[in-house]
Amino acid sequence: MKLTCTVFSFIIVLIVLLQACEKEGGNETNISAFSSKKSHNMGQNCMSCHKNGGEGEGWFLAAGTVYDSLKTSTYPNATVKLFTGPNGTGTLKHTLQVDGLGNFYTTESIDFGTGLYPAVEGKNYTKYMSSSTRNGQCNSCHGSSAEKIYTN
Ligand code: HEC
Ligand code: HEC
Repeated sequence: MKLTCTVFSFIIVLIVLLQACEKEGGNETNISAFSSKKSHNMGQNCMSCHKNGGEGEGWFLAAGTVYDSLKTSTYPNATVKLFTGPNGTGTLKHTLQVDGLGNFYTTESIDFGTGLYPAVEGKNYTKYMSSSTRNGQCNSCHGSSAEKIYTN
């Protein structure tokens, strides 16, 4: 009886510990794809949670949200490209698919080097950031200090 009780308590402790561990978001592969609707929190800085030690699933190296030209609705299935030169020049280093909710994100390592120039391609036109960035937390500026990222 006593042994059963000890074993039983031990199992309970293990279950509690396992649940505690589950809460910390691990660094698993998490990459946006056209039409996918697994993401959330449009417009927020994804990396406030999706970082080492954060609660988000997967630590993002680049992430953000794309809106339509009115900047009221998100714009799904656009394409984000990171070039070594301005206005789509130089080498195309990374291509990210914007998902069905307007978010893009990747846990793949990105070598920003001295800085990459983002481009956002919609069905009708492409917008180019005129300066380069080494910061993949696109929504840390866009939607607060800079206007929302948009295309159409
Ligand atoms: C306030 C913290 C927080 C912010 C901000 C946040 N996330 Fe998350 N995210 C989480 C947590 C916690 C989970 C795991 C539980 C869940 O799915 O809700 C998660 C899970 C996810 C998943 C995985 C869903 C799955 O089923 O595999 C994706 C994709 C995701 N987040 C994308 C994003 C994107 C893109 C942004 C920014 C636009 C973002 N998150 C902003 C906390 C956050
Ligand atoms: C440190 C702040 C900051 C970060 C981080 C940032 N941007 Fe920007 N972005 C700006 C500012 C300021 C402008 C306007 C001036 C310019 O084009 O350089 C801009 C312009 C843009 C434009 C052109 C907008 C237009 O009206 O034509 C696009 C597209 C863009 N950024 C995409 C991105 C993407 C994608 C990321 C993430 C990989 C990103 N930005 C990261 C500050 C930032």
